[in-house]
Amino acid sequence: MSDTAPLILGIESSCDETGVALVQSHGGPVPRLLSHALYSQIEMHQAYGGVVPELASRDHIRRVLPLTSQVMQEAGKTLKDIDVVAYTRGPGLAGALLVGAGVACALGAALGKPVLGVHHLEGHLLSPFLSADPPEFPFVALLVSGGHTQLMRVDGVGRYEILGETIDDAAGEAFDKSAKLMGLGYPGGPALARLAEQGDGAAFKLPRPLLHSGNLDFSFAGLKTAVLTQAQKISAVRAEPVEAWPVNVLADLAASTQAAIVEVLVKKSLVALEQTGMKRLVVAGGVGANRLLRAQLNAQCQKLKARVHYPELHLCTDNGAMIAMAAAMRLQAG
Ligand code: KG4
Ligand code: ZN
Repeated sequence: MSDTAPLILGIESSCDETGVALVQSHGGPVPRLLSHALYSQIEMHQAYGGVVPELASRDHIRRVLPLTSQVMQEAGKTLKDIDVVAYTRGPGLAGALLVGAGVACALGAALGKPVLGVHHLEGHLLSPFLSADPPEFPFVALLVSGGHTQLMRVDGVGRYEILGETIDDAAGEAFDKSAKLMGLGYPGGPALARLAEQGDGAAFKLPRPLLHSGNLDFSFAGLKTAVLTQAQKISAVRAEPVEAWPVNVLADLAASTQAAIVEVLVKKSLVALEQTGMKRLVVAGGVGANRLLRAQLNAQCQKLKARVHYPELHLCTDNGAMIAMAAAMRLQAG
């Protein structure tokens, strides 16, 4: 290490966002974010209605080095100052991951510095430590991304125990797939959530899968089918396809879908707190940006005198800062 405050470069390229960031361990309990830069490929994939893996890989190649220069410049550092290069090891799109891994390994070899592969979900899990109000260990974590829905007991860095997880689709997938069949395009989750703000969450009765299962597992595949069936019923009654519905009907279905997903996530999170006896909940992953989820968790946890921690809104979805932070915390924990 070049000095007592190791500098970590983090590279995220698992899906449709290229993220690069610099984090410095400075002796305090939580490493400090010096700079971060993000390029979202959303516009490029929008024309196809979803992520095209080959285009994603090629775009990561285009963006990763300019973003690296940008974060170095913003932090007033040069490549020689870097002590560790961290990158997202997986899970994610194979070609996209290879770009980040290849660049990280090449940089590490050229600089003679160690390279650290970080699990993408550990990045999300530790991302609330980047916020102005970082949590303290231990805590219960609700990890809700596009591909994963898990409740975890977290006793420290690397000390994770899965308490429950989805047996089929993730919560993010339920948002995305429901949005798609409502014609809301990609990325579906944020679009559905925006539309839901104008709708009535009680307008349509949708199932709350495994709500009373007695365990902490989730299942969202049936909900998507129920949304499809409900959409078909509405279309039959109105004698028009979903594209022709007035916006208030679409908003009501969006709000009802969101209400069903959020109710299950909130209920299970509270059960996890109760079962572990913990008073601290950490929410991470893209769905953690959902406003209804945040409002309901805040209200319910306040009643239980429990604290809830979230990543900053702009760091809920994929970014390089969470990868650099997870690497820094791992190094700090030895
Ligand atoms: O964590 P993330 O960026 O990527 C993965 O690691 O998967 O999460 C992306 C997921 C997508 O399913 C997206 O629709 C969902 O997070 N998402 C949201 C919101 N913002 C992003 N879902 C509901 N409400 C939002 N505001
Ligand atoms: Zn992610």
